Amino acid sequence: MKLSVPGRVTGAAVIAVAALLTTSAIADAAPARVAAAPDIPVANVKAHLTQLQSIATANGGNRAHGRAGYKASLDYVKAQLDAAGFTTTIQQFTASSRVGYNLIADWPGGDANQVVMAGSHLDSVTSGAGINDNGSGSAALLEAALTVSRTQYQPTKHLRFAWWGAEELGMIGSRNYVNGLTTANRAKISGYLNFDMIGSPNPGYFVYDDDPAIEKTLKDFYAGIGVATEIETEGDGRSDHAPFKSAGIPVGGVFTGASSTKSAAQAAKWGGTAGQSFDRCYHSSCDTTSNINDTALNRNSDALAYAVWELSE
Ligand code: TRP
Ligand code: ZN
Repeated sequence: MKLSVPGRVTGAAVIAVAALLTTSAIADAAPARVAAAPDIPVANVKAHLTQLQSIATANGGNRAHGRAGYKASLDYVKAQLDAAGFTTTIQQFTASSRVGYNLIADWPGGDANQVVMAGSHLDSVTSGAGINDNGSGSAALLEAALTVSRTQYQPTKHLRFAWWGAEELGMIGSRNYVNGLTTANRAKISGYLNFDMIGSPNPGYFVYDDDPAIEKTLKDFYAGIGVATEIETEGDGRSDHAPFKSAGIPVGGVFTGASSTKSAAQAAKWGGTAGQSFDRCYHSSCDTTSNINDTALNRNSDALAYAVWELSE
């Protein structure tokens, strides 16, 4: 949904003054370039989270690697992408004696020699449904991909989306994918964007500082909506961007925090509760649909789309 900016003119007042000002200045306080990227409907992202929660509930309470809830999650995401016109591929692997899968979705078109990738891990831990970790990234990524289809976006570069398996076992799926690329195909990936835990209930706004250009793109989005960010430091290399970075591919992403504690200074600038974890339900059974901050989920869904659109045009 449209991000609410303090002091923004709304409703009838917009109509009244619209003739006096440019429409874009009123519709969105973000820079003009934001207009190129779509506004991701957070209600749709939340609807995907509700489905992932139902899948967990119907399958022993989790969506973990090698369990029925993981495969059901994969089938849910794949069906929507197939119906939207993506070319999907399932990559199977074995980890800890159980079968796992990555789902890769290519949007037809664009320069095959310049691939922009965005990914999220779709597996949960065994102790819970994994709605913030990482239904949040998975659902936002799915909705962004569906928006590519809805708007029939035809970027200059080629777009590829990925939902990784077995991240919780040590980034097994994403490492498997990167290791399976030929040197030539690896060189074609101009950047990889990672989205893991983007709706934490007591959120921080963290941007990965791995690649300066990707970092700037994400910071530009946040500057445009007037929200302060900090550099992501809670366990650098603890998600699926790590294998890409190790292979020399530029990486970036956003994150709202896991078990680390929000400081007083952070609560002052972002709201929420100082002295409490960003996600008190991290890796536990209370990581359900209740464990999501809608504002953070909305902002990061739009940040995801902004980066995908900006880096692929
Ligand atoms: N990937 C971790 C998990 O799934 C969470 C995490 C810790 C993380 N540090 C991070 C995610 C930094 C992204 C960036 O449990
Ligand atoms: Zn996790």
